[in-house]
Amino acid sequence: MIKSLTVAISLLSMGLGVSYWEGTGHVFSLRGGDVLTKKDEGARMSSLQVAVKEVDDEDRLNEYNLSPYERHFPMWLLDPWMRKYVDSIPSKENEVCLVHVGKSAGYTVACALGFNAPGCTSQTNPIGLLPSYTTKWSHAGEYDCFDDSAYYLFIVRNPLDRAVSAFNYGKPYTWERARAKHGEKYYQRLKSLYLDCFDTIEQLAAWGLAPGGNATETCKQRAIDAIEGSARFENHLYYNFQYHLEMVPKDARIVTMRTEHLVEDWNTVEAAVGGEDELLGQDQSLIPRINTGSPKNDKYLSDESKVLVCERLCNEIQVYKYILDKSINLNQKQVEESLEELKLSCPVEAAASSCETVLPDITEKLMVNRGYDDNVELDPAGGEISVGRGVHRLPTRKSEQLSN
Ligand SMILES: *[C@@H]1O[C@H](CO)[C@@H](O)[C@H](O)[C@H]1NC(C)=O
Repeated sequence: MIKSLTVAISLLSMGLGVSYWEGTGHVFSLRGGDVLTKKDEGARMSSLQVAVKEVDDEDRLNEYNLSPYERHFPMWLLDPWMRKYVDSIPSKENEVCLVHVGKSAGYTVACALGFNAPGCTSQTNPIGLLPSYTTKWSHAGEYDCFDDSAYYLFIVRNPLDRAVSAFNYGKPYTWERARAKHGEKYYQRLKSLYLDCFDTIEQLAAWGLAPGGNATETCKQRAIDAIEGSARFENHLYYNFQYHLEMVPKDARIVTMRTEHLVEDWNTVEAAVGGEDELLGQDQSLIPRINTGSPKNDKYLSDESKVLVCERLCNEIQVYKYILDKSINLNQKQVEESLEELKLSCPVEAAASSCETVLPDITEKLMVNRGYDDNVELDPAGGEISVGRGVHRLPTRKSEQLSN
């Protein structure tokens, strides 16, 4: 009974298209580029049905297959591709939750882990332990992890590349279609950044971030807020590194795959969870890349603009470094390698250990999206974190401001 209900709900959600695009508490819509074809839907439905198998301990399995997100927000449905129906439950000592920071090859990894993400090219044959251990997935406005998993698998990418990609990805191809499809609120949010202010990331930097930039004061503020993730225009700049880090439980055991070193890191994560060393060897084709963006996207940033965007990404860059540093699968050499790579784009911030602006208090953002009950105190989800203006502890409750 419960089982068929769960399937029914998931199928329904495909039709309705619940999505983080509008986030918790809003009406939903899929992004233009991600629309499923009828054929895809059919394939997905049958794979879902196949995935629900008869097992002895059916109630326990049904319970497990329910979404932590949907339990927390009963009125909202998880994006169907984020739910993986399993027919065996990993033990708590093995359980992995995928936490993908947007525009970092998250769908690519999700497909390889056996999730049915948009754009998965084929039924990949998952190998190793990771696909069976990774049963839940959190991303942006949808936190669908258990809080007691053994590992939180972060997918990260050079913060400057990620920001450029996020800006481009967020811009609709067709404005009127975006409005008709996603509603007025969504449309207005995007319009205020793109149509009203900046068509390209270069314009955002040169007109909006440069001290002598010719954008209006309003647009200048939007440029800052967009890059810092402090106001919501498109989703992936808003749901940033800091958000994803603070979203996972305090003292979470973090394993990380870097977009730039996907196969190498898959191997070390597999080994960290108890699997074989060098499972994939060096064969990059084992993880087919999807959702890689359009060649139409304008990634151009002048050298001066790069400096300006990096400056505004300073806190994000410190959090990125913190995540790499905390990752139990990465050794010192690998962390340094990523820092060297980062220095090519943002030399000052890569070397810095503090920023001009204090790490923002994002308690509100977490409260709305992370799934805390009202009046429940927020743990300092990221634990002690040494970023921003010197070393400080993240606030433990809403009222506690970062006043230093
Ligand atoms: C800023 O200057 C550029 C030319 O350098 C111009 O194309 C653009 O429209 C100007 N933007 C605003 C908001 O005035």
